[in-house]
Amino acid sequence: MSGPAGRDDPGRGFVLGRDIPPADQPALLTALERAVGERTSLRPRIGLVLGSGLGGLSEALELEAAIPFEDLPGWPQATAPGHAGRLLFGRLSGVDAVVQQGRFHLYEGHSAGFVVQPVLLMARLGAEVVVLTNAAGGVNPEYGAGTLMVIADHLNLTGTHPLVGPNAAEIGPRFPDMTEVWDASLRKRLHEAGAAERVTLEEGVYACLTGPSYETPAEVRMLRGLGADAVGMSTALEAIAARWAGMRVCGVSLVTNPGAGLSGAKLSHDEVLAAAEAAGPRLAQVISRFVAGL
Ligand code: HPA
Repeated sequence: MSGPAGRDDPGRGFVLGRDIPPADQPALLTALERAVGERTSLRPRIGLVLGSGLGGLSEALELEAAIPFEDLPGWPQATAPGHAGRLLFGRLSGVDAVVQQGRFHLYEGHSAGFVVQPVLLMARLGAEVVVLTNAAGGVNPEYGAGTLMVIADHLNLTGTHPLVGPNAAEIGPRFPDMTEVWDASLRKRLHEAGAAERVTLEEGVYACLTGPSYETPAEVRMLRGLGADAVGMSTALEAIAARWAGMRVCGVSLVTNPGAGLSGAKLSHDEVLAAAEAAGPRLAQVISRFVAGL
């Protein structure tokens, strides 16, 4: 890790762990918007973030431009296995869309402000809706591998927050309301899309921890006591920032495994990826149908 960036540094070089207070985001987003504008003139109406193993959804995209993360100012290559690390622009079910294939995580050493930059960029490019997807562990004992859960609410248990530091009022308020982060009407549409595709969707609360270890069985029991149905290492910070920026937010967790201690089996990332890839096409079907109705 290196020291904090000066405000006069537009963040062109990537610095792992650099804190990005909200007040620094507008200038960084302007540089990102300019770099995207050199590659595509498409203005997305919707943004999608694809989690571990869920990259397959991008096959349904009529691709116009693909921008590797490392081609954008201040962004590195995605390093998490199962994450391609590209922004794709094109039409999904006839709707202009930007698809983030892979994401930045706290456990990679990224700061909260950096983790949320892609969704803030989507908002800057004009997307009004963002769909966040992830692979998650089941905390609800009813959820087996392959369960799809519409996110009704979240618990940010990371101990960090993307909006700490001087605010950028041109993006959003100092104290954004979080009463309904996960938009009720979009959730309803997700369920309608699920029904139309004959794909069962549960609905529940997603708990976000930093990782990178999976939870202990005691932590999974604690999360259940706190009201969680699924647990993962992403998504909540992005949802907070997207609401702050005025986007409408929805999302689906793909449960790849029962949480630690619930099945007796040990957890491995390879199994998580395999389960995500197995169930990914069902989620892709639901999301394509959902987007068509927007
Ligand atoms: N815990 C946290 N993150 C995860 C899990 C889990 O059990 N499965 C997939 N992502």
